[in-house]
Amino acid sequence: MDIVRILEEKRPEIDRIIEKWIPRVFDEKSMEFICGKPRYKFNTQAPTKAISEPIWEFLDRGGKRWRPALFLLVLEALGADPEKYKDFVLVPEIIHNGSLIHDDIEDSADLRRGLPCTYKTFGIDIAINAGSVMYFLPMIAFLKNKDLDERTKKRIYETYFQEMINIHFGQAMDIAWHKGIANADNITEEEYLQMCAFKTGTLARLSAKLAAILAGAPDDVVEKIGKFAETIGVAFQIQDDVLDIIADRKKFGKSFGNDIKEGKRTLMVIHTLRKASEEDRRRLLEILNMHTDDEELKKEAIEILKKYGSVEYAKEFSRKLIRETWNEIDKLLPESEAKKKLKAFVDFLVEREY
Ligand code: IPE
Ligand code: IPE
Ligand code: MG
Ligand code: MG
Ligand code: MG
Repeated sequence: MDIVRILEEKRPEIDRIIEKWIPRVFDEKSMEFICGKPRYKFNTQAPTKAISEPIWEFLDRGGKRWRPALFLLVLEALGADPEKYKDFVLVPEIIHNGSLIHDDIEDSADLRRGLPCTYKTFGIDIAINAGSVMYFLPMIAFLKNKDLDERTKKRIYETYFQEMINIHFGQAMDIAWHKGIANADNITEEEYLQMCAFKTGTLARLSAKLAAILAGAPDDVVEKIGKFAETIGVAFQIQDDVLDIIADRKKFGKSFGNDIKEGKRTLMVIHTLRKASEEDRRRLLEILNMHTDDEELKKEAIEILKKYGSVEYAKEFSRKLIRETWNEIDKLLPESEAKKKLKAFVDFLVEREY
């Protein structure tokens, strides 16, 4: 199954849905729909410039849109009609894009989707505000909805708030470790996995749990589907960390070795720190703590990671996570075309090259 093609085919429709809720140009009507009646007078040009333009410039660059795909596949696999709920793909995708705009400021990144990061193009002021509104604005799709019952909405809001808290705890761990303000030399795999479960697992969890709630699944099924999606997120992050040092730059769209520059504690780093000689261990930490963009130094750090087989270790680790979580979900979901697609989709996320 060609998942890349399927994602590309779905993208225009997803973007049309997003555009319905977040217009490329604000007018009085769309502002009133989103913000309520003006008490004085709206200026529509400012939000167009400071919200629509950075959001759409970012979305138009690309992005895999895999969280919406996961949302739709879970609905289908649970026997619900994805058509009926497809507008809600807006929620995980826009929150995700907002988190990337913020993340690039936090990580002092240069490139995103092959172009300078939003904060570089539009300024930090615009990037922070646009990223923040992207955490809340998509929820308008639920706020304005008149068809869902109160219990479903309550479950959705509870899930949303919990995941939004958790994602910030994940970012906090990642940032504090790479910034060197929390003891980062002896992080365990378990701590790393928890960080990933929060920073990357949460939005996958949110997508899948929203779908399961909308499909009317009982609490235990929602929990299991959520856990499955969270694991996919963790495996996806491990693969992303691998791609940071081995990917074809053009395809990947982010700078080479940015994680080394950041000083990020990836699974590969943790594995190397555990296995390496005292000398290599010291040198690796030294380079990571320099926050250097020097090509030679970044390559030297990567050579140390490779010397201890850490790339293969991480790749195998993510594959194992996927195998185990699939075994669980395999028992839960009835056989269907959607389930087959879901399996192919999950495999793609950890084998991807971009
Ligand atoms: C990047 O996510 C951030 C991580 C969680 C590693 P994606 O790789 O899904 O980003 P886009 O949307 O496709 O650009
Ligand atoms: C991505 O974190 C997670 C969130 C944006 C919440 P990373 O910093 O690991 O991802 P990339 O490599 O910049 O995409
Ligand atoms: Mg980053
Ligand atoms: Mg980050
Ligand atoms: Mg990365």
